[in-house]
Amino acid sequence: MPSRILIKEIINKIGEKVVLSGWVDVRRDHGKIIFLDLRDMSGKVQMVVTPKDEETYKIATTLRPEWVVEIEGLVSARPEKMKNPELATGGVEMQVGKIKVLAEAETPPIDVSGDGYDIGEDTRLQYRYVDLKRARLQKNLRNRHKATKLMRDFLAESGFVEIETPILTKSTPEGARDYIVPSRLHLGTFYALPQSPQQYKQLLMAAGFERYFQMARCFRDEDTRGDRQPEFTQMDLEMSFVDMDAVMSLNEKMVINMIKEAYPNKKIQEIPFPRLSYKEVMNKYGTDRPDLRKDINDPDLLAFCWVVDFPFFSALGGEKTETGGWTFTHNPFSAPKPEFMDDLMEKRDIGSIITTQYDVALNGYEIGGGSIRNHKPEALKKVFEILGYSEDRIEKNFGHMLQAFKYGTPPHGGIAFGLDRLIMLLEGEGSIREVMAFPKTGDGRDFMMSAPSEVEKEQLIELGIKIEKSE
Ligand code: AMO
Repeated sequence: MPSRILIKEIINKIGEKVVLSGWVDVRRDHGKIIFLDLRDMSGKVQMVVTPKDEETYKIATTLRPEWVVEIEGLVSARPEKMKNPELATGGVEMQVGKIKVLAEAETPPIDVSGDGYDIGEDTRLQYRYVDLKRARLQKNLRNRHKATKLMRDFLAESGFVEIETPILTKSTPEGARDYIVPSRLHLGTFYALPQSPQQYKQLLMAAGFERYFQMARCFRDEDTRGDRQPEFTQMDLEMSFVDMDAVMSLNEKMVINMIKEAYPNKKIQEIPFPRLSYKEVMNKYGTDRPDLRKDINDPDLLAFCWVVDFPFFSALGGEKTETGGWTFTHNPFSAPKPEFMDDLMEKRDIGSIITTQYDVALNGYEIGGGSIRNHKPEALKKVFEILGYSEDRIEKNFGHMLQAFKYGTPPHGGIAFGLDRLIMLLEGEGSIREVMAFPKTGDGRDFMMSAPSEVEKEQLIELGIKIEKSE
């Protein structure tokens, strides 16, 4: 028997005998003739079974949607009138010779023929492996792969190395709650899952890698929304010897390149992306992630913009003192703009210090952000002092950063894109769950795996953990 080919390949095989494998999409009985639509990862094709071969015909009458089959047959051109322009293989069909059933299937718990928006999300997520058969989700995840690969390739060609950083780590202040993992070998202590690779990527700059990137899984224990998941992916990078403009320009090029290649139908409203100050966007749009689209009804329009000149600090609860009462607006590791460095070192005029932070917004969503970092230990320490952290806390939480920066750390800066959000917008979806293979529900559960779940008593004893249920 010839070896299996993909459905998309059969348009060049008219008159040849081929073997296809895949899923029965639908079976239609027309009098004595049975039509089957077969589906594989490359597409669909129509097949015709006639009663000529009794055994094959008998098997065909039993086939039902989602059965997995191997079919041998002859590829033929469809008569002109019967061509289906909607299908890539619409000009051909297959005259079925032999059918081998590789797996039977029960009736799926949810219908996968439509877009699925009308089906309850809990059910879709419980049967995600069925839901993912849906053409829309297949397209979303395949395009996500394509977009990610284009950005990866762009960065690799620009001298970046992809380096993995730990998942079991220590809390890093990104402003959300940490997920924590108990340690068995060091009872009573906990790892934190990273909210981002922020500190590690800066330490890689200290180590001389100069250009790092990572498709980084991040964890934040915050309330889930359409554009927020407890576990998500950042396209994260860091570069040495750069200023704001160098990081922004390179990333802009990377994103434009990717869109031109992976989403040729999309129109980018303005290139280079407009750069607006925080003050300007707040005054004009009342938000720091403005939707600048000239036509919000155009589904192919992408309006990117950079937002810059954010205040470094904001008052906690309105109480401002020179020693505390301040919180950071974005990232404590950021450097102030050079003209504000003296103010930071003198802890002067704190509320007016402007940071090197740059955020990227797309169609009203914040899709990324980064900054030039404070690579001088004495300047970084001043930030922690302004935040009101004690010597002890600074040493305990950030001692390793201050220490590392003493051994020849170059000036550096970087950015992280919310990859899920970017793909969600490019795919025209309303939620990042539609572009993730196995997302969590609105209240952070995985119905399919039943997570989170209770653990064995022995496991808790081993970890020295006792659960106290509140009434
Ligand atoms: P930030 O916290 O702004 O920066 O995160 C970067 C981008 O990640 C996306 N994002 C999320 N996406 C889905 N679900 C979430 N819960 C979620 N939280 C954030 C957003 C956001 O713009 N270390 C810095 C980056 C840097 O300075 O280099 C950071 O993490 O699109």
